[in-house]
Amino acid sequence: MSDMLQLQDISKSYPMGEERLQVLKHVCFSVQKGEFISILGASGSGKSTLMNIIGCMDTADSGRYQLDGTDVFRLEPGQLAMLRNHKIGFIFQRYHLLPQYNVLQNVMMPLLLRGLTHRQAEPIARESLARMGLEDRLKHRPSQLSGGQQQRVAIARALVGRPALLLADEPTGALDTATGREILRLFQELNRQGHTIIQITHDLTVAQAASRVLHLRDGVLTAQ
Ligand SMILES: Nc1ncnc2c1ncn2[C@@H]1O[C@H](COP(=O)(O)OP(=O)(O)O)[C@@H](O)[C@H]1O
Ligand SMILES: [Mg+2]
Repeated sequence: MSDMLQLQDISKSYPMGEERLQVLKHVCFSVQKGEFISILGASGSGKSTLMNIIGCMDTADSGRYQLDGTDVFRLEPGQLAMLRNHKIGFIFQRYHLLPQYNVLQNVMMPLLLRGLTHRQAEPIARESLARMGLEDRLKHRPSQLSGGQQQRVAIARALVGRPALLLADEPTGALDTATGREILRLFQELNRQGHTIIQITHDLTVAQAASRVLHLRDGVLTAQ
């Protein structure tokens, strides 16, 4: 198997008065293509900071990050945005769907941002929604759906551009236990189909749905 991503000696700090608050401390890990891993950590341990770096939304103070063969920290901001759009599908705790658009339009959005026309984007978005069992909800607004359905729309949107990596931040955090379990089973199924998935969570039970759990404690990452 080959690496999907590799982080080497990643450190990140924020200014705090005269000092700096060290949030990530020499973080090293790699994820192979086809893996499903969880990063588990308590509130304040540095999860969001690490997720922003993995998701190419922020850079580190030092260290190296290779994503699917690209040396991420060498890129200009425009190239970084392009890499993010092409390589990563994001899934958030509160879905982040656009409320003024219907389900189909939400899922078409990443393709339109890539420059596809409506005609090109629509059948691809429909197929992605059908995979999530939502083919009969295309014209609904997000607010007309349950939390679990909204998260499945968000997963359809994350998958529509065939990203190399699915990156999920507390994907079950806003859902009841049974619906959360359904979403985790969906991730396991997507993983069996070959998708590489990283989920970030504070919940051990949720983390254990993955095949490998890494633990973040005060900015230090260790295998569990
Ligand atoms: N932009 C920022 N400026 C200053 N401190 C920050 C910033 N972002 C996060 N922090 C601090 O870094 C630590 C880790 O935060 P975060 O990565 O959000 O952790 P988590 O997502 O695990 O709760 C916290 O102490 C937080 O207050
Ligand atoms: Mg956080």
